[in-house]
Amino acid sequence: MWARHDDPVHRATAYHDALGDFFAKNADTSPYNAYTDRPAMLQLAGDVSGARILDVGCGAGHYAAELSARGAQVVGIEGSATLLRHARARVNGQAELLLHDLEEPLGFAADASFDGAVCALVLHHVRNRAQLLDELRCALRPGAWLLVSTTHPTADWRRFGDSYFSQDWSDLPVADGSFAIHYQRMPLETFLGELLTAGFVLEQLIEPRPAVGLRDIDEAAYDKLHQAPCFIAVKLRRP
Ligand SMILES: C[S@@+](CC[C@H](N)C(=O)[O-])C[C@H]1O[C@@H](n2cnc3c(N)ncnc32)[C@H](O)[C@@H]1O
Repeated sequence: MWARHDDPVHRATAYHDALGDFFAKNADTSPYNAYTDRPAMLQLAGDVSGARILDVGCGAGHYAAELSARGAQVVGIEGSATLLRHARARVNGQAELLLHDLEEPLGFAADASFDGAVCALVLHHVRNRAQLLDELRCALRPGAWLLVSTTHPTADWRRFGDSYFSQDWSDLPVADGSFAIHYQRMPLETFLGELLTAGFVLEQLIEPRPAVGLRDIDEAAYDKLHQAPCFIAVKLRRP
């Protein structure tokens, strides 16, 4: 459970209080979340009807609500009480939601008890990724899938400069600098290497372009996200 709410590291990596409220609202319609990451990841998920899915870092419940609506049985875990409140309102009892620190083992999950797991824009916030991936592999049944999206390494290289191979923890200002999102940038070989080292097999890798609906509401963002990727998304299998 979320035992270290006042620890500055953990407060920085989960989206508490005003940053949580900002993220919840922004994720509804943002060119990045609503039009780029989510449509691509949901397409990678495919038919989820009847599947038991773990939504890792479920945020304001956008994935949990959509996957439930598509017939999945969803368990969402999230470290921010603020976002969990938004998620509970969004899923309206259709998914099980738990306050959980992803730096801690998934004690609530029985081995091989999930058919799939979604980890959307979360892994780069977690320090003990090897432990989390090991726990996820155990919680997934053999043949189950894991979807992971993260910031595109070249987008971070453009944003933060320095070396493409930098693995620095960085702060990305959002909301005109009112907040900063703290995460670890990393080159592609680190992102993929960690997933493969954890025992997953890569099935598909995409560099999502925004859904066409974005062109009608924000043509500049649509064009920009078609020229340079902001995220990378992968579908993996637990052998
Ligand atoms: C960019 S948001 C993505 C939320 C959601 N997956 C989505 O795509 O809408 C990152 C999420 O990871 C959560 N998170 C970051 N570090 C965490 C940790 N140590 N334990 C639990 N959740 C964490 C944040 O609170 C936030 O909800």
